[in-house]
Amino acid sequence: MKQRFYLYLLLFVLCGMGGGRLCAQELLTNVYGRHYVSLNGEWNVIVDLYGQGRRMQVYKNRKPTDNKQFYEYSFDRGLILNVPGDWNSQMPELKYYEGTVWYGRYFQRPANVEDERLYLYFGAVSYRCKVYLNGEEIASHEGGFTPFQVEVTDKLAEGDNFLALEVNNTRTVDAIPAMSFDWWNYGGITRDVMLVSVPQVHIADYFVQLDKYRKDVIHATVTLSEAKAHQTVQILIPELKVRTTLETDMNGVAQASIPVKKLQRWSPEMPKLYDVSVVSDQDRVDEKIGFRNLYVKGENIYLNGHPVFLRSISFHEEIPQRSGRAFSETDAVMLLSEAKALGANMIRLAHYPQNEYTVRLAEKMGFLLWEEIPIWQGIDFKNDATRLKAGNMIAEMVQRDKNRCALSFWGIANETATSEPRNEFLKYMKKRCVEIDSTRLIVAAFDLVFFDRQTQKFEMNDTITNILDVVAVNKYMGWYHDWPVSPDKAIWNVASGKPLIISEFGGEALYGKHGEAEKKSSWSEDYQAQLYKDNLKMFENIPNLRGTSPWILFDFRSPFRFHPNQGGEWNRKGLVSDQGQRKKAWYIMNEYYKQKRLEDLSNN
Ligand code: GCU
Repeated sequence: MKQRFYLYLLLFVLCGMGGGRLCAQELLTNVYGRHYVSLNGEWNVIVDLYGQGRRMQVYKNRKPTDNKQFYEYSFDRGLILNVPGDWNSQMPELKYYEGTVWYGRYFQRPANVEDERLYLYFGAVSYRCKVYLNGEEIASHEGGFTPFQVEVTDKLAEGDNFLALEVNNTRTVDAIPAMSFDWWNYGGITRDVMLVSVPQVHIADYFVQLDKYRKDVIHATVTLSEAKAHQTVQILIPELKVRTTLETDMNGVAQASIPVKKLQRWSPEMPKLYDVSVVSDQDRVDEKIGFRNLYVKGENIYLNGHPVFLRSISFHEEIPQRSGRAFSETDAVMLLSEAKALGANMIRLAHYPQNEYTVRLAEKMGFLLWEEIPIWQGIDFKNDATRLKAGNMIAEMVQRDKNRCALSFWGIANETATSEPRNEFLKYMKKRCVEIDSTRLIVAAFDLVFFDRQTQKFEMNDTITNILDVVAVNKYMGWYHDWPVSPDKAIWNVASGKPLIISEFGGEALYGKHGEAEKKSSWSEDYQAQLYKDNLKMFENIPNLRGTSPWILFDFRSPFRFHPNQGGEWNRKGLVSDQGQRKKAWYIMNEYYKQKRLEDLSNN
């Protein structure tokens, strides 16, 4: 216990000493709803193979000023990378690169921001980075999939400002994810970069959502940037004739429970969003928010008071045709349109928080969402620093997306082995989620289900399920596991008393490969199709099954798939090929989801 105390103290001192320099700061809620200047575009880069750039202080971007000076680097007229975007898919030489890349660009202080506060905001930088402004280190961040920001109000020069990022994607044992994971280790400034301006006293945070159970009460919490009491804040929802005035307490926090009538609750069938404005005397943030009830009762998941079956699908944040990380609205349209065509009403965003375009568009299109941070298989659960880092990442995810009513599940683990350190780690993850948002359903995916020869049933023993609202299982029957009994005789006794989701199942197939339906190593569409039919048959015998999520929508790139004749470095479990061609199994799932949707509609 003492060790932990000193660790917390060390982190507190480190963060305090650097004036927050070493730690990114609290995230502004809904940064896209603020005034901002985009810093996307072409950045100059230096590939720093041996990590020498910090010693050489390349972030100062110095130029010789007399005949005797010289510098062994220059950003100008060097390599260029687009931001946002991973480096692997932009330069063939960087396809496999793990190491440091320095990004640098100039930008001007915007006009008319004299009385404003200015923040640099990064949607995501993979995997870790240090931020330097005009030659001074101002922030650092670890975690390749969550946003961070740093205030620069008093750090900007009047004319040119030089912004440099030292980005490193080297895998380490104490990282999240750690040394080995089944997706490409894309590195770079992979999401939007913005210079955000807000009033001196601004709306720092708000959380507006329907009561967990009731359809006639909206709860609102607004936090101002200053701890000032008796400040007036308003919540406006014109379509509901809501015009509620709140007053802040001594911490600058205002709360209200707002009665509403005739509210149209959001659902995948009817993804209704309302215009919502949060107004203070100096600031105003406009937002689109949906309102829905979501809770578990017994073995059922209730959406707006009706039991729902989750017709889920997963996808990585990757555009296979480009062999690169997805980052834009256009990318989100491509991924989500295919999920909609499949008949899904939920997306498990594997295995990490994906960009905000995908989350917001999914909400507009009518998908429930499961988001998770990449606590994927072998994590250094005994390491306190790793646990704190993971806690920060999950808090950043929840903080960013808590106003998205589509967000239904916070996932806290994927295929982790049973152990006391793992259990403590996951209890801490849940704590960090619930501290910010106590309403979403907490879930984790396990690969611990086994066939018990005694009971002739599929069983699972893992006490950590007690902290979960919903239990999820990844089970590759017909692929990693052969059938111990025929699929229609496969009876499950897993997590009874709680809702169960099959969060991954499937097998590999190369689009266009046909025949050999009984041969696993054929990589044929016919084998994959039969595997799907068999699994759907088994699902009929899972009494508390409340959702399925095939692995995965698209073939995706993976560094540990070595089949040259299957296109090499690709995980071919996609229902759709990397060129957008639907395999036979896609049609089987499409038919199944049509049936499940009709069953839900008839039950409502
Ligand atoms: C695991 C894991 C996935 C992986 C899949 C596979 O269940 O969660 O990330 O891609 O198996 O082996 O294809």
